[in-house]
Amino acid sequence: MTDDLASLEAETVAALSAAGDLRAWDAIRVGVLGKSGRLTLLLKALGALAPEARRARGEALNVLRDRLAAAIEARRLALEADALAARLAGERIDITLPPPPATEGLIHPISRAMEEIVAIFGAMGFTVAEGPDIETDWHNFGALNIPAHHPARADLDTFYLPPAEADGAPLVLRTHTSPVQVRSMLSAPPPIRVIVPGRTYRADHDATHSPMFHQCEGLVIGQGITLGHLKGCLIDFLRAFFALPDLPVRFRSSYFPFTEPSMEVDIGWDRKSGEIGGGKDWLEILGSGMVHPKVLANCGIDPREWQGFAFGMGIERVAMLKHGITDLRPFYESDLRWLRHYGSNPLAPAMLHEGL
Ligand code: PHE
Repeated sequence: MTDDLASLEAETVAALSAAGDLRAWDAIRVGVLGKSGRLTLLLKALGALAPEARRARGEALNVLRDRLAAAIEARRLALEADALAARLAGERIDITLPPPPATEGLIHPISRAMEEIVAIFGAMGFTVAEGPDIETDWHNFGALNIPAHHPARADLDTFYLPPAEADGAPLVLRTHTSPVQVRSMLSAPPPIRVIVPGRTYRADHDATHSPMFHQCEGLVIGQGITLGHLKGCLIDFLRAFFALPDLPVRFRSSYFPFTEPSMEVDIGWDRKSGEIGGGKDWLEILGSGMVHPKVLANCGIDPREWQGFAFGMGIERVAMLKHGITDLRPFYESDLRWLRHYGSNPLAPAMLHEGL
């Protein structure tokens, strides 16, 4: 290679390694390989040479062009990799830091309570199931062992809708989330472990009742499931939800048509101060029981082989207790002052240890 080519190569290689970014790199590329780049001009000058000299010079120039092109490309890749590494280092997020305070847009306390309930039961292996708000009479009552003239129907002030099917049975706005027990059992064979947060409806309106409210149902079906499993599961849940590891929990015999035996679950509190976990009083917090054999059979499950438990709780109720809210109505009034006070940070995930 002649001296001028050797120095073109040396200078280009030195300039490339000095180029700190892609702009400097591009200027070098254009200066060598561009339309009036140094190598391009040398190639253009070939035409003026005698044929013998042209062949030797042409070969040398071609070799040099390939080497320079390779060096230029290699430098581009290196600069791009550096740029990416710098960007990644600059944009690193420390996920262990607490989230910044939310300035706009908070999570409604009902949504937050649902998220917490789902997080706690999720950790126990439950999945979330859903069903329609408008239910058939059979899913809401019949399959749950509440026949047509059962007094339990009168207890629940039901909103009825005109019948949709030829059998003339009315549709209802579901009065509880329990019809999703039926839907879950019909949709997949056991074992089953689901929770069902959702809207429910009863014709009732005062400081502690709203015609639309929220419940969360739970259903576990398996082999060898006992009352002990029900108790352990609900004690663990309540202690996690209220973030009180020693929260007193009491099971009190009760009646629901769809469970046998049935139990009301109470937590310890102080009636005077409203303090959860303290004092000598008991507060009813949810309904539960072993799924009635008739309900299992209605859903195509053999009660001699499978058994399970179910429970249902009011979400407003547990949210009110957790946050010391005494009136139900502001939950639905969209008063921004109330929402700002009781709303929670959307950037902070629902934690099991989030306490009172
Ligand atoms: N569905 C009942 C209610 O609305 C609660 C419940 C659910 C009780 C499951 C027992 C088992 O009051």
